[in-house]
Amino acid sequence: MPIESDIFILGIESSCDDTAAAVLKNNVLLSNITAGQSVHEQYGGVVPELASRAHQQHIIPVVHEALRKAAITKEDLSAIAFTRGPGLLGSLLVGASFAKGLSQALQIPLIEIDHLQAHVLAHFISDGRMDEKMPDFPFLCLLVSGGNSQIIVVKSFDEMEIVGQTIDDAAGEAFDKCAKVMGLPYPGGPHIQRLAAEGNPNAFKFSKPQISNYDYSFSGLKTSFLYLVRDHLKENPHFIEENKADLAASLQTTIVDILMKKLIAAAHDLKINQIAVAGGVSANTALRNALLQAGEQYNWQVYIPPFAYTTDNGAMIAIAGYYKYLAKDFCALDQVPYARLK
Ligand code: KG4
Repeated sequence: MPIESDIFILGIESSCDDTAAAVLKNNVLLSNITAGQSVHEQYGGVVPELASRAHQQHIIPVVHEALRKAAITKEDLSAIAFTRGPGLLGSLLVGASFAKGLSQALQIPLIEIDHLQAHVLAHFISDGRMDEKMPDFPFLCLLVSGGNSQIIVVKSFDEMEIVGQTIDDAAGEAFDKCAKVMGLPYPGGPHIQRLAAEGNPNAFKFSKPQISNYDYSFSGLKTSFLYLVRDHLKENPHFIEENKADLAASLQTTIVDILMKKLIAAAHDLKINQIAVAGGVSANTALRNALLQAGEQYNWQVYIPPFAYTTDNGAMIAIAGYYKYLAKDFCALDQVPYARLK
């Protein structure tokens, strides 16, 4: 039975190809529902128009299920938080329009959320246990997804400074594009991880970027992977099939090395030893192991999110919304979604 002083936040996420909704009671997760979109698999990547249409079909059942699972009614909600950007504009518009309509109908506040900040704040979602470990401010967060690779100094719930980011492709894109070269389905990251488990990480060497600050670059790696495969295929048409595990393991280890090198440098220079990771690529076991190992070596407190919070989800939007609700940081109805990083 809801008590009046409890805050119930509905979080809605629709920035790419997952329609997601979650309900929080204060900072404790009550439900977290996601509808994926298999329609894109045959195209080897997300088709924006198809994503928007699928969001339209999924949004009502997903929100309905999130409320049902949380065992509350929409009248119990205190506010509605939605992803305002960055993302695919058509997809964002579905979630934003739905959130605006529902907040108006219920006469409750509307809260806009930056998708990337929400990935970082996923570390503050509670499952109600007393012994949960959450980062203290300031902490460093390595945010690695299909669209971003950033090192962020997180100073508070609403103050984050990007100290390094990719100058071209994101880490997830490197996984996905190289997987495509190998004929693997989209998204390629999980397939690379699965194959890598059987392969030799030192079988092939790929180029690594030489950039002086904390920025990343993955386009050179992608090209070097493509050229290596292309050259071997000239000699042996079965090269990919015969070497897929070694190719995957070598690629994965190169990406993890590139990510870790800059993170270690930033942690050292900025003298921060609370280190978190977020985003879809943070599901990668090799990256998780590398973080834990660095944690032992450099005396870091390492925060790795549960798998459910690595990919896009409604819970992270709801937790970001909860802290904005406490700060009374509400948004007006004329706020429109944005596609690119602010
Ligand atoms: O954060 P996310 O779900 O979506 C956005 O980019 O917004 O991240 C998706 C990315 C894809 O590039 C996917 O290949 C990658 O995360 N990914 C992985 C793994 N699981 C997902 N990459 C490597 N290993 C994984 N296990």
